[in-house]
Amino acid sequence: MIIPDKNDFFKIKKLTDADFNRLSSLIYNELGMKMPSQKKVLLEGRLHKRLRELNFHSFKEYIDFILTEGEYNGELVTMFDLVTTNKTDFFRESKHFDFFSSTFLVDYYNKHPKQTLKIWSAGCSSGEEVYTLGMIIQEFKENNPNFDYQIFGSDISMRMIHSASLAIYPDSRIGDIPYNLKKKYLLKNKDQSKRMIRIAPELREKTTFFRHNLMEENYNNLDMFDAIFCRNVLIYFDSNTQKQVIRKLTSNLKQGGYLFLGHSETVNNATGDLLHIQPSVYLKK
Ligand SMILES: C[S@@+](CC[C@H](N)C(=O)[O-])C[C@H]1O[C@@H](n2cnc3c(N)ncnc32)[C@H](O)[C@@H]1O
Repeated sequence: MIIPDKNDFFKIKKLTDADFNRLSSLIYNELGMKMPSQKKVLLEGRLHKRLRELNFHSFKEYIDFILTEGEYNGELVTMFDLVTTNKTDFFRESKHFDFFSSTFLVDYYNKHPKQTLKIWSAGCSSGEEVYTLGMIIQEFKENNPNFDYQIFGSDISMRMIHSASLAIYPDSRIGDIPYNLKKKYLLKNKDQSKRMIRIAPELREKTTFFRHNLMEENYNNLDMFDAIFCRNVLIYFDSNTQKQVIRKLTSNLKQGGYLFLGHSETVNNATGDLLHIQPSVYLKK
């Protein structure tokens, strides 16, 4: 007797061009992310397990289901979680942090000694950028005890927001954090075999994470910030969407505030309000 492979009971039909086009326009319209046809295999691979979990036999059934679920609840959010690229690191593109600690913080404190510094990391992924900023500012605060700050991190992905708020990381991820900062701001798991660390509470309590889609029409519901980090997010958008996002970010930046983009990103004449200071760092005039 031939025993069938259990997968034979559950074959999912391949992603057709028509269904790929439906999915890619949904992703483009809601997320701003370009999905050229070369990404078809990638998309299929990322969603395959989800279709299996939900017992769908074709992408058509899955897309129909997403569309009946309505905007920003249920499956659409899960689908975004699966298709976004969340690569990040502590001290990623570290020149920005050199500039931030040696120039930005010093100037800011001289000009506004009594003000609470407000920073937004837009597209913060699992929070490494936020906690890198936290460690740098906390060091500055040691020499300037009256200095106060708040860091906000947002992402479209609920999974990333959850993981950023937990602030727990495998110790394989902390190699780029300087030793003195590791000692001060990372807590080791009591069970050494777990090889996980957690960010210290004094940093965690300065951070707030929330879900936000950069594709929203405007960011009027958000605060005004002294610095905005939106790094390695714009690369996934087409040039028109990039410009719109930069304009909206700039409108939430205080005059004299700084915008930091990823090293391969530029503002591309999106607005005349920004002055180029150094690679991918801009000052709002
Ligand atoms: C590659 S990560 C960059 C993380 C971090 N900024 C860095 O440079 O290391 C890009 C992040 O942008 C988020 N993202 C993508 N599209 C977005 C959108 N429309 N609104 C908000 N976040 C988005 C993704 O979920 C992902 O976590």
